[in-house]
Amino acid sequence: MTRKSTEVILAIDCDNMDEARRLVELTHELISIFKIGSILFTAYGPPIVEMVKAMGRDVFLDLKFHDIPNTVRGAVRTSCSLGVKMVTIHTAGGLEMLKAACLGAEEGCRQYSTDRPLLIGVTQLTSMGTRQGLHEEVLKLANFAFEAGLDGVVCSAKEVAAIRQAHGDELLTVVPGIRLKQDSSDDQARVATPIEATKAGADFIVVGRSVTRSSSPLEKLRKIKEEISRA
Ligand code: C5P
Repeated sequence: MTRKSTEVILAIDCDNMDEARRLVELTHELISIFKIGSILFTAYGPPIVEMVKAMGRDVFLDLKFHDIPNTVRGAVRTSCSLGVKMVTIHTAGGLEMLKAACLGAEEGCRQYSTDRPLLIGVTQLTSMGTRQGLHEEVLKLANFAFEAGLDGVVCSAKEVAAIRQAHGDELLTVVPGIRLKQDSSDDQARVATPIEATKAGADFIVVGRSVTRSSSPLEKLRKIKEEISRA
């Protein structure tokens, strides 16, 4: 099976619906999945998901669930009512919580007659600096995710190759902390360029501020896509 090339997900982390709509309208010719996180979802709730879907694009709902198993099961179940493509859960919540998330997804897509979202486990945040043992920790958390039946993990570009080696195509890798060479790294620590993440074998890269804060987001996205195709 030939793998799909690395897909770019755009994170819209603003706090204003009009600004979010403007970004989606501007970039949707190049982006098929938009990531909505806690900033926008807390402000607007399901209508913000509807806004993106109404433009024919998919939503990655990045609320990073981390709670007791029963609560996470319910949160993933009700996420299915939104018809989103991807949902995140913190792998640090443990194996039982991750298994509960999988149960919630099965229940939710039956209850709401929607497609089952891809369940993506967050390993270590890319804002955490490198420290001893971090690489092994991420691999351990990825193993938990796999064992529980999740579809993929969020990790930095540095861990992608080892995760692919361990799990092949069975576990998707989603890589945030993406910056072009000249960009500021902001609060991210383990950053990588689109070329590095693509070469490592990332299935998805998440780009946020380096595009959304740019004076010409479309041009920036084109540059990122060009890097991916050259990698
Ligand atoms: O603006 P920037 O490109 O740093 O945005 C990265 C996005 O990816 C943010 O929405 C952030 O919440 C998310 N993310 C992350 N690290 C993770 C998981 C998600 O930066 N481990």
